[in-house]
Amino acid sequence: METTRFQFANNTPLSLSPNFILPEENRPILSEVFSSASIPTIDLNNHDIDYLVSKISRACEKFGFFQIINHGVPKELCQRVLAVVTEFFQLPPEERAQFLTTDHSKRVKVFNYYQKVEGQGRVLMWGETFTHPWHPTEDFTHFLPKSPPQYRAIFTEYAREIGALMDKLLSLMSQGLGLEKDCLKRKIGERPAIYTQANYYPPCPDPELTMGLQAHNDISALVVLLQMEGVSGLQVVIDGKWVAVEPVPDAFVVNIADQIEVLSNGRYKSALHRAVSNKRLARLSLPMFYAPNNDTVIGPIEDLIDEAHPPMYRNYSYKEYMDEFYRQEGARRRVKEAFQLQH
Ligand code: OGA
Ligand code: NI
Repeated sequence: METTRFQFANNTPLSLSPNFILPEENRPILSEVFSSASIPTIDLNNHDIDYLVSKISRACEKFGFFQIINHGVPKELCQRVLAVVTEFFQLPPEERAQFLTTDHSKRVKVFNYYQKVEGQGRVLMWGETFTHPWHPTEDFTHFLPKSPPQYRAIFTEYAREIGALMDKLLSLMSQGLGLEKDCLKRKIGERPAIYTQANYYPPCPDPELTMGLQAHNDISALVVLLQMEGVSGLQVVIDGKWVAVEPVPDAFVVNIADQIEVLSNGRYKSALHRAVSNKRLARLSLPMFYAPNNDTVIGPIEDLIDEAHPPMYRNYSYKEYMDEFYRQEGARRRVKEAFQLQH
């Protein structure tokens, strides 16, 4: 059986073997990353809805990334979900290996991201990813691992909370676009394809030679990400510069993904982001993705199109989008560009 790349169970430092080392032009230059001017943190416990709508829509237009506090998801549940996912990554490698696959059609899988580099083949990213579906109301436990034993119960509870939070965010975002509250959710459609992706980045002897997760745009519609406190790694491009998204206690990072950028006809931004590894500490992040199903047709919402704002994208089915995504495997993906209209 193939085994996982990282043996997290023992605490011996992992060595940076050549298949993780990126060519110089693809490496992160950490001294050039900004950490002060970061993305906004928005307090969701504000009863002035107009104020919230304008704060959120401005953040979506300017950055496509923001953090939220006082979001209503119990702190203790967030801690439990991070702990149980960490435990999953600490299972003996043989146990995680049962989920290892490179088959895209598998809905539950452990895998490593990589970049295709000319003359070097595949360069692995310094992280391991575990992905599986989730659902806010339906039973999805059959997708979840049996070990650690509490995984199923904790994740079910967490999914319910995140589902409710996403509904609230989608409603605020719709209003920010001047649309009916339920508009974005309706457009993302019935039977959304929703999945999570737990990313585990072990400590790395030299974070400047490799990357945790290469620069990318999220292809789904909306992302709510929980990250460990005290270890940074997530970075986003703002005005052409890499900016660190420092962990804020008890906050979620929210980001616009490609489908909302397209639905909003480019008003809300799906920003380029990446994760770098940390020299001393392991880092865990847990993004929850909300995406259309394959048959859903996505395109700029008609109410947002007029003479001054012609459609920036053509209509497509999400299946077409996913096919293009997989076609660009191993490269810095530019999926959205393939659906752009020229004016
Ligand atoms: C992702 C992602 C960032 C992180 O999984 O799509 O952007 O902080 N993760 O791990
Ligand atoms: Ni991402």
